[in-house]
Amino acid sequence: MPFPIHRPRRLRTTEAMRSLACETRLHPASFILPLFICPGEGIRRPISSMPPQCQLSIDTAVEECREIHALGIGGVILFGLPATKDECGSEGYDDNGIVQRAIRAIKSAVPELLIITDVCNCEYTSHGHCGKVVDGYVDNDATLEWLAAGAVSHVRAGADMVAPSDMMDGRVAAIRTALDKNGYLTTPILAYSAKYASVFYGPFREAAESAPQFGDRRSYQMDPANSREAMREIELDLEEGADMIMVKPAMPYLDIVRQARDRFDVPLCVYQVSGEYSMIMAAAQNGWMDEERAMMESLTCLRRAGADLIITYFAKPAARVLGR
Ligand code: PBG
Repeated sequence: MPFPIHRPRRLRTTEAMRSLACETRLHPASFILPLFICPGEGIRRPISSMPPQCQLSIDTAVEECREIHALGIGGVILFGLPATKDECGSEGYDDNGIVQRAIRAIKSAVPELLIITDVCNCEYTSHGHCGKVVDGYVDNDATLEWLAAGAVSHVRAGADMVAPSDMMDGRVAAIRTALDKNGYLTTPILAYSAKYASVFYGPFREAAESAPQFGDRRSYQMDPANSREAMREIELDLEEGADMIMVKPAMPYLDIVRQARDRFDVPLCVYQVSGEYSMIMAAAQNGWMDEERAMMESLTCLRRAGADLIITYFAKPAARVLGR
């Protein structure tokens, strides 16, 4: 007869007891904060759908990085908004591109802060697709050269890790080969392995000015209906040399996170994407949900599902809460 011998509520009586029984803890060192870098000086341009996130010029990004480092946050992931876009996304792999310059500035001001770069072309191409468009289709193998060149230029500028988010086949191998050829044997790759074609990227595309000008990304990003395919994508990325893997978006895909955690013994990252963030902020601003509690609960649940690292726009406020 389990009851009244067993009473699970005994471990929930006080804050001290609950804290002792807590299975999942958050730490700022496992957060990664995305930053959007734009041309100009002294700029903090609010992204209306993601309050209070801003597009930052290099100088304000450097200030921001000092604060991020002081809060003990694990690192930043950089996205660039180039001054000009073209068919080939050339600023994406230009040594003087916006991200490459930002990396150099941040590294010289805050050398201990870990810098990850998103390796993709969609912010840099005039058509907004993640690769080279040939007859309306994103050409896989031609795109690999741009990605490899982008990754090498980021690392040459000082990036600590590169994170390809394009979902081309073979990009991890192409980037690994290119990095090694340039002597960057010790620079790891965080692969956006299971990246879904998700509506939850909507606010990001405003932030990064990267919406596709025709069609959508479903010929390269994954179908939200699929989970076995996610395991296959991760397996291939690991075979190609990925050091860390990622599931993206996060909260609607916790089953994928759990499966990945159970199957693969490498660090697992999740990306709590713009739409997940904006939903919480919108509800909070309407007074429908408590912002701080929604933030902390969403992050805790990602860890509980198996994520080691969390890319999140909440990194700063969550680190502040944890530091109290
Ligand atoms: C670039 C990229 C995207 C995101 C991260 N890297 C957008 C996309 O694939 O359309 C989305 C991040 C977010 O929504 O916060 N390919």
